[in-house]
Amino acid sequence: MTEPGSTAPTYPLPVRIAGTGSYLPEKVMTNHDLELTVDTSDEWITSRTGIRERRIAREDEFTSHMASEAAKRALEQAKIDPADIDLIVVATITPDTLTPATACYVQQQIGAFKSVAFDVSAACSGFLYAMELARHAVGAGAFRNALIIGAEKLSAFVDWNDRNTCVLFGDGAGAAVLVPSTNGGGRILSSCLGTDGAQAELLNIPGGGSACPSTPGCTPTKTATLAMQGREVFKHAVNAMRKASTDGIAAAGLTIQDIDLIIPHQANLRIIDAIVERLDFSRENVFINLDKYGNTSAAAVAIALDEAHRQGRIKPGDKVLLVAFGAGLTWASAVIEW
Ligand code: COA
Repeated sequence: MTEPGSTAPTYPLPVRIAGTGSYLPEKVMTNHDLELTVDTSDEWITSRTGIRERRIAREDEFTSHMASEAAKRALEQAKIDPADIDLIVVATITPDTLTPATACYVQQQIGAFKSVAFDVSAACSGFLYAMELARHAVGAGAFRNALIIGAEKLSAFVDWNDRNTCVLFGDGAGAAVLVPSTNGGGRILSSCLGTDGAQAELLNIPGGGSACPSTPGCTPTKTATLAMQGREVFKHAVNAMRKASTDGIAAAGLTIQDIDLIIPHQANLRIIDAIVERLDFSRENVFINLDKYGNTSAAAVAIALDEAHRQGRIKPGDKVLLVAFGAGLTWASAVIEW
């Protein structure tokens, strides 16, 4: 209820990011380590992708554990007690279990007992899909705040004998806390999401779902490991991320000259370079950490956002473009005034 004399809030409320966090497993797997197990070389991986090493979770470290660690760090920065969180959305394609949602495990692990918790599955675009859902949920006043997380244990779904895919992926998690922006501070200015289900076959995990279950007595004809038509995915990634970027910037009422930092999905340095060139943007103002972590799918933009923030690459008032692309096919962008 509105206090006498005070003004009723106008919905939708602007929404800002109050805190970010990330978590990477300790174990580092270098390109040289991979040379020992598949027919590849550090030179090939570095020149074709920009990736030098990736992190690999312990066997007993699940997606929810990494998600929870990232979440705790984001909540600490936002100065919000887990018990006060209203909504948790985890973006992942590598859930602990098919059901319940990984967000439910996170709710227990961090003690956010009053929250509503569920997952979204939009592959590498998942964190930005979660951000857009949460922005509207908080902006409409349905939830006071939201914890959004991108988390993946891709090492559990990679065929470690397939050099076409195993060199590309890694594990990790990133998180952000969304709250109403009531004091004129920063806010999420715009978002742009897209999906092309006609291209679903280009990048998928064919086994393990209802189309090819691993139930007793049923012989899966397809494995539950990542399958990808790399060259085709590459072309779609460049086109979709360029368009998502320009559409997101236009929806914010800005031009590319207004953008201070781009945080792109961290899949391949050549994809990022192609986009930056097409946008006519300075490479110096693009945040890149894929050399250290490889492609962590839904976690990638979230981890990069947290690292950029903690390294002081984002200052109050800066306009930041987040942009991603992934299986589905899906793509997404968000423009944030910090
Ligand atoms: N080490 C050495 N050689 C490898 C290799 C590896 N790890 N992986 C593939 N090769 C070989 C291929 O077998 C092929 O050999 P051939 O010419 O004898 O057939 C050769 O390298 C070139 O393969 P190609 O697929 O044309 O390479 P590319 O330049 O397209 O790079 C990717 C491959 C996967 C790095 C690139 O296509 C890519 O990044 N695609 C997008 C992937 C992606 O980002 N997916 C996630 C989206 S969110």
